[in-house]
Amino acid sequence: MKVLAIESSCDDTSFSIVSDEKSIDFIKTINHRKFHKKHGGVIPEIAARQHLDIMDYLQKSIKKLDFKKIDAIAATYGPGLIGGLIVGSSFAKGLSIGKQKKLIPINHLQAHLLSPRLTSSLSFPYLCLLVSGGNTALVLVKNPKKFITLGSTIDDSAGECFDKVSKALGLGYPGGPIIEKLALKGDRYKYKLPLPLTKVKNCNFSFSGLKTAAIDSINKNKGNKKFIENFCASFQYTVGEIFKKKIGNSLDVMHNDGIKFKDFSICGGVAANQYLNQLIRDFIIEKKINFHQVPLSLCTDNAAMIGWNAIELMQYRKIKLNNYNTRPTPNVLIHENF
Ligand code: KG4
Repeated sequence: MKVLAIESSCDDTSFSIVSDEKSIDFIKTINHRKFHKKHGGVIPEIAARQHLDIMDYLQKSIKKLDFKKIDAIAATYGPGLIGGLIVGSSFAKGLSIGKQKKLIPINHLQAHLLSPRLTSSLSFPYLCLLVSGGNTALVLVKNPKKFITLGSTIDDSAGECFDKVSKALGLGYPGGPIIEKLALKGDRYKYKLPLPLTKVKNCNFSFSGLKTAAIDSINKNKGNKKFIENFCASFQYTVGEIFKKKIGNSLDVMHNDGIKFKDFSICGGVAANQYLNQLIRDFIIEKKINFHQVPLSLCTDNAAMIGWNAIELMQYRKIKLNNYNTRPTPNVLIHENF
């Protein structure tokens, strides 16, 4: 079984061909970062136009593709920026009608949450920390259609916090990879930052207080290269401590509710952070749970996870696969299926 998949929810246009044998036969991801960089964040109108231009390129390149080998077309229908979602989903719909293939609308967040199973053998149910530019949540993945959110951010996401702190430090966008690199040379204990909501015994996160405290501290201490390195290390350390505390709470919830599981993973853009991965890996392994790391290229937005989600759905029972009336939806939630 092979699926041609398209991802266009934010500032990456990606297409991929994925098979049910867990192989990524093809993947091409084109990032629009350079067009958004000077604005310090993603500009929706610029992103939509970029997706449109890149789709044009995709249209030309798939002329050579043998569609006899493709079983279905999948695309991200939400959540995301409406311009990009319209471009990607319209392209997928046209292609599936033209080539008479099944059309599978995908929830981008569910695709992130299922992505660990593309490269690793996690069995349902498993626990996943989803940390991306738009979301931070602890989710119990029960099957390809059932996702239970144990807790999520009540304000900013972790990724957004990385991006805003990076901007305040005068570094680039996206902030996560830059902060991670500079943190390698810094002292993580140099600056004490708040750990919002960690005294509350639940699985919700809050990052806006950390963001404000970090920006205030940066404005007061504005300084040299050493200051930036130390600050990056201290900030990244604080995020890691928040993650650990909330993951610990989620393990308690699972225990108290008698839910048995043996696998854990982190997914989404922030999961590309090696320091955070190592920290959480150690924490999880100590609790005698298997930790599965998503490869770097599958952490940030990509079409392989969209294709894989489609395969998971096709292999699952009672799935509506040809809903041409499905509309792209910018604000769909984790547990909402298309
Ligand atoms: O999942 P993703 O690619 O896309 C959206 O949610 O749109 O996540 C992007 C986020 C950005 O906030 C970026 O700063 C963060 O992931 N990110 C990282 C790292 N790489 C990307 N955060 C921390 N460390 C990283 N190495």
